[in-house]
Order: sequence, then structure tokens, then C-alpha cells
Amino acid sequence: MKKKIDVKEYAGLLDEAIGKGILLNTQDQKFNSMVIGWGHLGRIWNLPTYVVYVRESRYTKDALDKTGEFTVSAPLSGIDPKIQQVCGSLSGRDVDKVKEAGLTLEAPEVNHVPGIREYPLTLECRVLYSQKQDPKEIPAEILEKFYPRNCGLPGAVDGRDVHTAYIGLIEDAYIIE
Ligand SMILES: Cc1cc2nc3c(=O)[nH]c(=O)nc-3n(C[C@H](O)[C@H](O)[C@H](O)COP(=O)(O)O)c2cc1C
Repeated sequence: MKKKIDVKEYAGLLDEAIGKGILLNTQDQKFNSMVIGWGHLGRIWNLPTYVVYVRESRYTKDALDKTGEFTVSAPLSGIDPKIQQVCGSLSGRDVDKVKEAGLTLEAPEVNHVPGIREYPLTLECRVLYSQKQDPKEIPAEILEKFYPRNCGLPGAVDGRDVHTAYIGLIEDAYIIE
């Protein structure tokens, strides 16, 4: 069962939860989930949105770029240490996180990316716009702290593993019960 919600009423909870780590899910060849600590609810073009920031190195980025869809899953009562460890440090390139973290998937309503029963607050999103960060526009002290010039990835900018911002239109929002 899913209880539809007005996402505005959960803005505080989502903001509190992302400070500890919530999940960004994708569905390409397989379902994958990664912990995010940066992101926010928003509004642009008169539409309700959730914005996520994903580094070039993440398997999640490949899936997002291919499918243009994601779901966000947040816990209602604190993070699960096992989920945090598996989804926040292992890559979907190497492991099946559903199995490793013991995730129970819940079929989506609108897009093609399942939610997660263990983290029941769910936002189904479609990417409206994405933009890779330009290191030249990042303040020097932040650039050196978060983006050392050593990553050697093909998509890196100036050798830096920058984030791409994805603005996701919130197409559905609910709590899995
Ligand atoms: C608390 C926490 C917050 C994180 N926040 C982000 C984030 O906002 N963006 C990001 O690209 N990676 C973030 N990460 C790192 C990814 O979760 C991690 O690299 C993950 O293994 C990537 O999985 P993937 O390769 O399957 O996409 C965070 C990790 C933790 C533990």
C-alpha cells in the first residue's frame, strides 16, 4: 500500500534525513541505489522538483544519463547502518546492492524506478535538466577541499571528479506502508 503525500509537508523531514544520508535509486540494466548527502526540494518553471548532485565516478551517473529517471527514498525513523554502508561505499558496478543490503523493492506508480520498503518516504522523479559543474565557477577553497585534481576519469573536468546537478520533476510522492 502507498499513502499519497503532499511533499511540502515533508520538507523538514527530508532536509533532516539528507543530512544523515538518503537513497537515490536508478533502474537501468539492474536496480541500483546510492546514498546521497546533498540534495534538496525545489521549485522551478512552476514545477515541484528534487535536485540531486552526482559525481562523475558513480555508477548511478551512467544510469541517470541513460534513463532520465530516479526515485528518492528516505527513512522515517533513522538510517539503517547496513544500507548506509552498502549503498554509501560499494558500487553497483561491482555488487548487487539489493542483495548485499537486503533491500525490499516496491513497484513504482509513474516512472520505472522502484522504491524501497525499508526507506518508505518515496519521490518518483523525471530528469528535466542536468548540468555538470564548471570548476572555474567554484570558489577556490571549496574546489580544493572537495575536488582534488587527481581522478583521471574520462568525464572529469580538469582532472576533477565534479558533480552533475540533476533537477528531477516530482511526478509522484508517497509513503510505502
Ligand atoms: C553520507 C554519504 C553521503 C553521500 N552523498 C553523495 C552525494 O550527494 N553525491 C555523490 O555523488 N555521492 C555521494 N556519496 C557517495 C556514494 O554514495 C558512493 O560513492 C556510492 O558507493 C556510489 O554508488 P554507485 O557507484 O553504485 O553509484 C555519499 C556517501 C555517503 C556515505
